[in-house]
Amino acid sequence: MSAILKVRVWRGAAEGAWQSFEVPREPSQTVLDVVTYIQRKLDPTLAYRYACRVGMCGSCAMTVNGKTRWTCRTHIDKVSGNNELAVGPLKNLPVIRDLVTDMREFFDKWARAKGSFTGGRSRHEDFEKVIPASESRKQADAGIECIGCAVCYSACDVVAWNPDYLGPAALNRAWTLVKDERDKLGLERLRAVAGDAGCHACHTHMSCTEACPKHLSPTAGIAGLKREVLAAVLKGDL
Ligand code: SF4
Ligand code: SF4
Ligand code: FES
Repeated sequence: MSAILKVRVWRGAAEGAWQSFEVPREPSQTVLDVVTYIQRKLDPTLAYRYACRVGMCGSCAMTVNGKTRWTCRTHIDKVSGNNELAVGPLKNLPVIRDLVTDMREFFDKWARAKGSFTGGRSRHEDFEKVIPASESRKQADAGIECIGCAVCYSACDVVAWNPDYLGPAALNRAWTLVKDERDKLGLERLRAVAGDAGCHACHTHMSCTEACPKHLSPTAGIAGLKREVLAAVLKGDL
């Protein structure tokens, strides 16, 4: 007889309860496959979110056996040696229902950290070129593959203690723009990340870096922001 997974799934919002399901174990099964099986075969009222299923969109992140993960690329073999699984919503974000969190404050913080590119050329001018081997381009490259999944944000203790903290993803994004030679926002972005809720609130715990499914290091980017802010303060610019 094939093995059965005993799965507990969070139902409700901030107030709620765990509900148990039994799901047949399959080869190469992912956590997202298990949640999808429950929704399609056992309880169609289960709310969850995903889009690409191939690790690109960042929408399928959940808490799996206590750790935040992208569920479409997390195999059951990796997280459930004993055929038991607990799947809950991301931490540090309001729960709308079941496994779906409200991502607004996560993305609002990207805006607060000035996380959008601000170029200096018009459409009539030629593209600005960046030398791929330049030091600043290499530093930006190290953080640029973020998919906005909020796994790091959910894993960060400082976000839990201080809900105003911009968090690892928004600060990582700001760092890639600070290191983008084409971007013209300069001191305005440094000012945005320098306050009490900005880069200096980071305690360098590395939880974000350990959890990031894209193997980025927001911790390193945040350390870079601290250095840039300090340099601007010493120069009297901030
Ligand atoms: S290194 Fe900083 S941003 Fe990352 S989890 Fe720790 S406190 Fe949060
Ligand atoms: S830094 Fe990593 S964990 Fe954080 S949102 Fe981007 S891809 Fe996800
Ligand atoms: S569904 Fe798109 S990253 Fe998982």
